[in-house]
Amino acid sequence: MTLRSVILGTGSALPRRRVDNAELATMVDTSDEWIVERTGIRTRYVAGEGESTTTLAAEASRHALEMAGLQAAGIDLIILATATPDQTFPASATTVQAALGINDCIAFDVAAVCSGFLYAMTVADNMLRGGAGKTALVIGAETFSRILDWEDRTTCVLFGDGAGAAVLRAEETPAEGGRGILASKLHADGRHNGLLHVDGGPSSTGTVGKVRMKGQDVFRHAVVNLAQVMKEVLDVAGLSTSDIDWVVPHQANARILDATARKLGLDPAQVVVTVDRHANTSAASVPLALDTAVRDGRIKQGDLVVLEAMGGGFTWGACVLRY
Ligand code: UT7
Repeated sequence: MTLRSVILGTGSALPRRRVDNAELATMVDTSDEWIVERTGIRTRYVAGEGESTTTLAAEASRHALEMAGLQAAGIDLIILATATPDQTFPASATTVQAALGINDCIAFDVAAVCSGFLYAMTVADNMLRGGAGKTALVIGAETFSRILDWEDRTTCVLFGDGAGAAVLRAEETPAEGGRGILASKLHADGRHNGLLHVDGGPSSTGTVGKVRMKGQDVFRHAVVNLAQVMKEVLDVAGLSTSDIDWVVPHQANARILDATARKLGLDPAQVVVTVDRHANTSAASVPLALDTAVRDGRIKQGDLVVLEAMGGGFTWGACVLRY
């Protein structure tokens, strides 16, 4: 038997307001045709009054706890991945902790932008297996709408708001064929900071800043890095692409999803796609897509699932698990 972190439940949450491409075309010089053809995005959700990164994160967490059949008091560790915290401090994870009524557990944020959920899962997995606790709540939550330049058509059409969560528990599982996280691999290369960044911050400009991206450069790096890291993580787990049941990728662009699947020789039907509905929700995109495929019955217990993401930093990573 081997101690592994097993996903007991998933959950997600979206803001009330859905915005389609036609609405954006009334705000900037763009069209439904351009957005669909270049990105695959048709709609995204935008947070309104009373909605924030932590309200969405708390709602997603409640759904995940419900699926896991656990009370919030049973959580030992909360890791929240976000680039859009409610405040600079305290960590948004502690706001979620309070909203869930948990009086004492470990709680902190992780900042790895679109790869944030992969980073948070990997940290949680290592902490659980290291004995820091038995049960973790891992969340990816964002309100990118609050850091978009709504006059910049090259970025404002691409992103959306939302949250996804997973409950992980350390369990002894059979070494062969057992459930849980089998391997993770993370990377960062800060030389590419300038290709995708926010042009502000508390210690630089003293302002919140807006998202800036050189899309074509990011696209090129994404396809190469994602295919590479997926191969790497499968190697570490002693598996090959033919063993994979599902890929749950970061949802940035339908063309990146297709190109990565092709590079690995995967059937596009094995790739969970939600970018058409949610757009790019940064750290929330992988857990939102995971929850979608679990709840619609595609991902079943025992399936081999690969999660992958790449984003600002650059940061990127992949994780292979038996659901
Ligand atoms: O989540 C983190 C990771 N992020 C990503 O992975 C994003 C990766 N990049 C991409 O998904 C794509 O590069 C974009 C969707 C951002 C852009 O697609 P593209 O095919 O690379 O377009 P482009 O940047 O080369 O722009 C082509 C043209 C340009 O016009 P000209 O210079 O050819 O006249 C742009 O100005 O499309 C124009 N354009 C637009 N037109 C209508 C850019 N944005 C828009 C727009 N509507 N919203």
